[in-house]
Amino acid sequence: MEKSVETEDIMILAVETSCDETAAAVVRNGRQVLSNVIYSQIDLHTIYGGVVPEIASRKHIEKIDQVIEKALLDAGMTLPEITAVAVTYGPGLVGALLVGVSEAKAIAFAAGKPLVGVHHIEGHISASYIENPDLEPPFLCLVVSGGHTHLVVVKDYGEYEIIGMTRDDAAGEAFDKVARAIGLGYPGGPKIDRLSKEGNPDAIAFPRAKVGGEGSYDFSFSGLKSAVLNYLNSCEMKGIEINRADVAASFQKAVTDVLVDHSMEAAERLGMKKFAIAGGVASNSSLRAAFEEACRKRGITFYHPSPIYCTDNAAMIGSAGYYEYIRGVRHGWDLNAVPSLKLGERI
Ligand code: KG4
Ligand code: ZN
Repeated sequence: MEKSVETEDIMILAVETSCDETAAAVVRNGRQVLSNVIYSQIDLHTIYGGVVPEIASRKHIEKIDQVIEKALLDAGMTLPEITAVAVTYGPGLVGALLVGVSEAKAIAFAAGKPLVGVHHIEGHISASYIENPDLEPPFLCLVVSGGHTHLVVVKDYGEYEIIGMTRDDAAGEAFDKVARAIGLGYPGGPKIDRLSKEGNPDAIAFPRAKVGGEGSYDFSFSGLKSAVLNYLNSCEMKGIEINRADVAASFQKAVTDVLVDHSMEAAERLGMKKFAIAGGVASNSSLRAAFEEACRKRGITFYHPSPIYCTDNAAMIGSAGYYEYIRGVRHGWDLNAVPSLKLGERI
């Protein structure tokens, strides 16, 4: 990859281990990805039907050195050329986070570099900066992942206001649970996405939850999940053959409708002309198409990271880490993992 380090360039070595991806990246000036290495543990967890925290931590320990070494090698960089080390310190699985945090601390200390702790969701939001050099705050961002469903006003770099969030399951969690119920296995999101293409999204009328009344942008997906389970049970009891593709497509449409409705209502009310999606579920093809259309109709510019930057990765942490670094955020050698870190909170 291209390498020319100007003295004013800020090169961030970023580390991400909050869940089941061991990832490291080198990012120049917050937007240019020089390397992006991801070791995915998905195969290891698939047999258990979900992420097993203990296994994730152990695998991170095994892989983290190699992943970081490869990130530096791919970028054609050595540690002394790095400006700072950024690491996800929350939210996430505590044992998994601790591996990345400890590793980043050790590297930063040994190389005499500043350490910058990054919020995982801030990373997901910053993923849109990577492929859109023109994107600047303010904008509205919908973060939809396995653990989070947040509608966030990005007021400025590092300044966020959460205006809506899920009251129960995250969108990705609902995808994973429904996928399990129709026998698709883990991770469910991509499998439902694929199977839906063969199904009719209007075949089954699943509910679209509206929670919190007028002006609320909160989400709820547990009712939808129960409705799918009830539908499957009642078909079974009545001896009706289940069309899994129709179930997948109808469920996916119900999730998509709610996410699009709330987001567009908020964008219109707040007069936002830029809208981004982020997180694993943001790679969903029907969701992307629906947002494309909804934004076009309203004259809103739609930003959507490539799938590789939607799923957990360290390039997004390198981008967020850059903006934290230039606003002066530095962490000490006592930096700890904070499994329930709030967005915008700096510990
Ligand atoms: O952002 P991510 O990689 O990890 C978390 O921070 O949670 O998101 C993982 C989630 C999983 O629930 C997975 O099923 C979902 O993203 N996902 C999808 C798709 N690809 C991944 N959901 C729907 N459609 C997809 N194509
Ligand atoms: Zn994530």
